[in-house]
Amino acid sequence: MPVLTTQVKKDKSFHGEDSETQQHGSNTTKVQLQSVTKTYANGTHALLNANLEVKKGEFLFITGPSGSGKSTLLKLLYGQELPTQGEVIVDECNVADLRGDRLSLLRRRIGIVFQDYKLITQRTVAENVTFVLQAQGYTRKEIQRRLEPTLKLVGLLSKADCFPDQLSGGEQQRVSIARAIVGTPPLLLADEPTGNLDPDNSWQVIQILQKLNSFGATVIVTTHDEQLVRRCNHPVVQVRNGRLSRK
Ligand SMILES: Nc1ncnc2c1ncn2[C@@H]1O[C@H](COP(=O)(O)OP(=O)(O)O)[C@@H](O)[C@H]1O
Ligand SMILES: [Mg+2]
Repeated sequence: MPVLTTQVKKDKSFHGEDSETQQHGSNTTKVQLQSVTKTYANGTHALLNANLEVKKGEFLFITGPSGSGKSTLLKLLYGQELPTQGEVIVDECNVADLRGDRLSLLRRRIGIVFQDYKLITQRTVAENVTFVLQAQGYTRKEIQRRLEPTLKLVGLLSKADCFPDQLSGGEQQRVSIARAIVGTPPLLLADEPTGNLDPDNSWQVIQILQKLNSFGATVIVTTHDEQLVRRCNHPVVQVRNGRLSRK
């Protein structure tokens, strides 16, 4: 299965920190699936003997029709689901071995974007974006330091005090990206982030994800939008009935 090309990273993050490229010495593998099968309790085989390696700093598309196993693959990476067989390795840790604090720590290093945004409707854009940092005990000063460049990056600085229902779908999705990246996670997972958006807004979202990738984040995006994938020059893994293949 795909062993995808390594890209050497580059810039500082948009918050000014060094990218994490050197943190794990010479090992540049970010994510690995080794012979992973996922069978849900009702007997559905969502993934079958899946192998995948994603290097640090890569931008990978995962495509496939509805029900093929794309979301399951991402859920395995952040530990929402555990494999039935095989190993899921993120940052050299076997996700199945992580419990409690260690699983929380891994999840802090993963930003997640969903198709349906999952914003808190009673909170402003700024509050939605900073909520997780508050829960993680960041100081007010640090939260303020991060908020502005994050909103700027997604083009929503002027909307900081708006509520989600005052925003377009594209803007709401950009808020959810801001929320996912405000803690500078080195791994960003986006599950059909453009699924509810028109082509212009979809392209904006992809451009933001590409920008984050240029700052050093490893980015994995699922989509069934073939046109969008063709417009970008990134590696593509296809899922069909739970089986992965390189396109
Ligand atoms: N929690 C679950 N319990 C049982 N079956 C599930 C569950 N989640 C997903 N599935 C099934 O697993 C398969 C893959 O689903 P999913 O990973 O969501 O695919 P995709 O994201 O590509 O649409 C589908 O057949 C789906 O119905
Ligand atoms: Mg899905």
